[in-house]
Amino acid sequence: MKKILVTGGLGFIGSHTVVELQNKGFEVVIIDDLSNSKIDVLEKITEITGIKPLFHKIDLRVKADVTSFFDTNKVDGVIHFAAFKAVGESIQKPLAYYENNIGSLVYLLQEMKNRSIDHFIFSSSCTVYGQADALPINENAPIKKAESTYGNTKQIGEEIIAESCKAYNMNAIALRYFNPIGAHESIKIGELPIGVPQNLIPFITQTAAGLRKELSVFGADYDTSDGTAVRDYIHVVDLAKAHIAALERLINKKNKVNFEFFNVGTGIGSSVLEVITAFEKAAGKPLNYKIVDRREGDITAAYADTTTANKELNWKTEKSLDEALAAAWKWQQQQ
Ligand code: UD1
Repeated sequence: MKKILVTGGLGFIGSHTVVELQNKGFEVVIIDDLSNSKIDVLEKITEITGIKPLFHKIDLRVKADVTSFFDTNKVDGVIHFAAFKAVGESIQKPLAYYENNIGSLVYLLQEMKNRSIDHFIFSSSCTVYGQADALPINENAPIKKAESTYGNTKQIGEEIIAESCKAYNMNAIALRYFNPIGAHESIKIGELPIGVPQNLIPFITQTAAGLRKELSVFGADYDTSDGTAVRDYIHVVDLAKAHIAALERLINKKNKVNFEFFNVGTGIGSSVLEVITAFEKAAGKPLNYKIVDRREGDITAAYADTTTANKELNWKTEKSLDEALAAAWKWQQQQ
């Protein structure tokens, strides 16, 4: 049985990926510093799968702790989620973002290189494309100058991995996520935003639950079918499964080059108003919202060309936007 380290394994995407890994028979060891997650998630994962993952509360910025973890745990691969992810905050605190998102990545890769641990999966983002010139976005689209420090940490992260793979003959895959939403069907794990949600779906569900007065729709003057911005919303369980597909590709030596990257989305673009309409249907009630000015840094439209990921990873999404919104709403109601 392969043992996989999942950093940030108690977070939103991490926890869903741990469940899918365990379902596939992998042994999982989680590192999480609990800075943006709750320890209860460990119990919830155990309730879903019947297997308690190993857990270490470690801050990956502390190099000695990272080394000591690898000294005492033998792992066959690493899926690296642990990172700061708030776009606005990243512009206010660039050094904190570089220290955490880049520093931790370097320490992990150093330990892997020193111990010849080969398989590495990295959480990247469609944000690396900025506003792409052509839609849907395929993997050949050029990387645009990052709009935020957060985005830059993903671009630099990919470069660090690519250079390390080349120099040390390691194998890695970066998954460029579009917009992950939803919750596990058990409604035991989901997204737990701290404070006022910045992302659309948690803001919608909190508004519907009465925790927020109304949703502000950021801009209705975009060049899209209804004027609101378009994104590719992917169910978190489908996204989690893409990690297992990527890991198996590396383990089975099916990768074509040392460092590969894939777009992970549904291929379907939905506008903010389309999401609101779909949510109202899923929740069976109207949502309070108003149109306001555009949010700084937002792009008009992004959705994935999933051809390469579908073919190379032998993976495709199975869940619809409606299912994802229904799960997100159930999750919210249960909080
Ligand atoms: C954001 C991040 C991106 C990150 C992704 C996933 C930015 C600029 N980008 O993407 O780097 O990978 O989250 O977590 O923040 N919207 C509203 N009202 C709201 C919130 C959002 O109208 O209260 C709109 C936005 O303008 C956007 C869409 O909903 O058009 C989705 O927004 P959001 O969920 O924040 O994701 P992104 O901005 O696409």
